[in-house]
Amino acid sequence: MEQTISPAAASAAARQRRPITDELRERVRRDLPEIAEINNDELRSKVVEAWSFSLAGTSYESLVDMPACGVPGIFEAKSGNQTDHLRAVTRQAILVADDYIKNFPQLDIDRDLVIAGALCHDIGKPWEFDPINRQRWKSSPHTGRPAIRHPAYGVHICLSVGLPEEVAHVAAAHSSEGNMVARSIENAIIHAVDEAYWQVMTAGNQVDPDTIPAAFRRP
Ligand SMILES: [Fe+2]
Repeated sequence: MEQTISPAAASAAARQRRPITDELRERVRRDLPEIAEINNDELRSKVVEAWSFSLAGTSYESLVDMPACGVPGIFEAKSGNQTDHLRAVTRQAILVADDYIKNFPQLDIDRDLVIAGALCHDIGKPWEFDPINRQRWKSSPHTGRPAIRHPAYGVHICLSVGLPEEVAHVAAAHSSEGNMVARSIENAIIHAVDEAYWQVMTAGNQVDPDTIPAAFRRP
């Protein structure tokens, strides 16, 4: 006999999380080596905790298991995995920040916040990408598709592990959701390099053409 699962039970199952182990933390540090660039000890360890918390709430064991796309169906890169985007955005945000810090000292840029923010800007994506969640959202008219996009879910993760509001702001407002607010100076840098990444990948023919949003399509 076919077993049916009530929406409430399916939702409860989706919220089950794996324990956060030292092995998972170590895996996060290995997959995102730019974490070591964060000077402040507490901020650095909370970024590790945040990614561990994010992955442990999904069916992904690691970031390299996640496809290299903006979100499923949009900006699907022809190769690689999710760490390519996160690491490129972080490296480029550091380069941009360092240039401003050196040449425009009147700007008050917090380098550690740039690095932590860039590393955590997409921290809600494992939840949004998780095939189990996507199947659940597809099968119910009550949840929305997705129920919660990665910027909002990313805020939940950042604040749950005690990351500062400044980093939660980057998760919340690095994307088009941020068009409703005034972005922080660190988030302005991250937003710019995040968008540039997909423009450059598109120009370099590295994105499946069927997944390029209309506004980015080339004649
Ligand atoms: Fe991103």
